[in-house]
Amino acid sequence: MTLLTDKPLTKNMRQDGSVVDIRSYEQAGGYQAVRKVLLGGMTPKAVTDAVKDANLRGRGGAGFPTAKKWSFVPLGKDAPNPTYLICNADEMEPGTFKDRLLMERDPHQLIEGMIVSGFAIEADVAYIFLRGEYVQAAERLSRAIAEAYDAHYLGKNILSSDYSLELYLHLSGGRYMCGEETGLLNALEGKRANPRSKPPFPPVVGLFGKPTVVNNVETLCCVPHIITHGGEWFRTLGRTQDAGTKLFGVSGKVKRPGLWELPMGTTIREILEEHAGGMRDGLTFRALLPGGASTDFVTEEHLDTSMDFTAMTKIGSRMGTGTMIVLDDQTCPVGMTWNLMHFFAQESCGWCTPCWSGLGWVERILQSMEEGRGQPGDLDKLASQAKMWGPGATFCALAPGAAEPLQSALKYFREDFERHIREKRCPWR
Ligand SMILES: Cc1cc2nc3c(=O)[nH]c(=O)nc-3n(C[C@H](O)[C@H](O)[C@H](O)COP(=O)(O)O)c2cc1C
Ligand code: SF4
Repeated sequence: MTLLTDKPLTKNMRQDGSVVDIRSYEQAGGYQAVRKVLLGGMTPKAVTDAVKDANLRGRGGAGFPTAKKWSFVPLGKDAPNPTYLICNADEMEPGTFKDRLLMERDPHQLIEGMIVSGFAIEADVAYIFLRGEYVQAAERLSRAIAEAYDAHYLGKNILSSDYSLELYLHLSGGRYMCGEETGLLNALEGKRANPRSKPPFPPVVGLFGKPTVVNNVETLCCVPHIITHGGEWFRTLGRTQDAGTKLFGVSGKVKRPGLWELPMGTTIREILEEHAGGMRDGLTFRALLPGGASTDFVTEEHLDTSMDFTAMTKIGSRMGTGTMIVLDDQTCPVGMTWNLMHFFAQESCGWCTPCWSGLGWVERILQSMEEGRGQPGDLDKLASQAKMWGPGATFCALAPGAAEPLQSALKYFREDFERHIREKRCPWR
């Protein structure tokens, strides 16, 4: 019997950091959702309907409704096969470390989420596409997958039902682009990780040309709890219109950097001040990137905003991955923006001109400002580049993502940029 909890994703995790093995997972009520779905007579549509009722939105950054994505997959005996389910565990977004916790501490939760989600889309084969540097997650997932096969939760005719699923762990080659879902598909096929043109979208034409759903780790981990406790329960976990709990993280010079499972819609201030303990002594808060590097900076005036997909968009940013990077008053905002643009420039796949050419140019302008060689007119050049990376101007969302910290830095730290040019030096050095 599973007890109702307000922290479903982390309830099994141990303080000492050790992994929850299959026996402990089952004792805590694990694999009940698989039993309910496969042995309780649920149909794939009923599983998708439950996820729709729960209003689950993807936790990979964009917040796309999960049930809607699944509903594009052709079902039935005439559907193309095999159908694939892919767990996006690439997690290369700077400042983001939430999926790692889920995989290292409670890997069976993810495996159960993949079995139930796989059933909903009638997937035959599933992959966990894992960031190559996540060595401990790879070890623990491999062991958990073997345990799940031994217990007959994976493989042919799972628990003697009609449903079969093969699950493989695949280690990424280590580029940011491998996390973009169509770049990921190319990488998994052994090709260069360029994104694909869309349409067709992966649920219709995906891996090896077959229907494929790509979902984030945290998204998939929510699914067993929705099946076990119902959509209404999941919705009530959130404080605002966006449902469920969310892993929120904080990095930067705060007293207690870390990761917490909290209701969706918890305010930025509560996460920053109560959970992360506020700024370290002697430092003042200036701004933060709310959900990884590819979100717009928010400032003091926004701290009482709810961290959810809807409210964060209203203040001109995004919730993204929900893992914040904090900027303090003793760190140069121009230097921080340069560092971010360096990352994006390095990770550009080189396909679209505004991205490969523009990012390198912006990086060089920011470097010259930091080194005292900034020129009047540089700010206009930076602003026009950020505009050129807007949504729809490039093949994938890497460049629009890079535009977000740049355009918001120009908005909130304009005086700092101008001072670099005026004084021909970085005032923080
Ligand atoms: C450059 C780039 C990198 C990305 N990296 C990741 C990643 O590491 N993990 C992830 O889940 N989504 C990542 N995404 C988003 C995926 O393309 C996709 O939207 C997501 O995996 C869908 O999962 P969800 O619907 O469960 O949120 C990335 C997107 C871009 C543009
Ligand atoms: S936006 Fe950048 S990363 Fe994305 S396809 Fe174009 S060049 Fe590649």
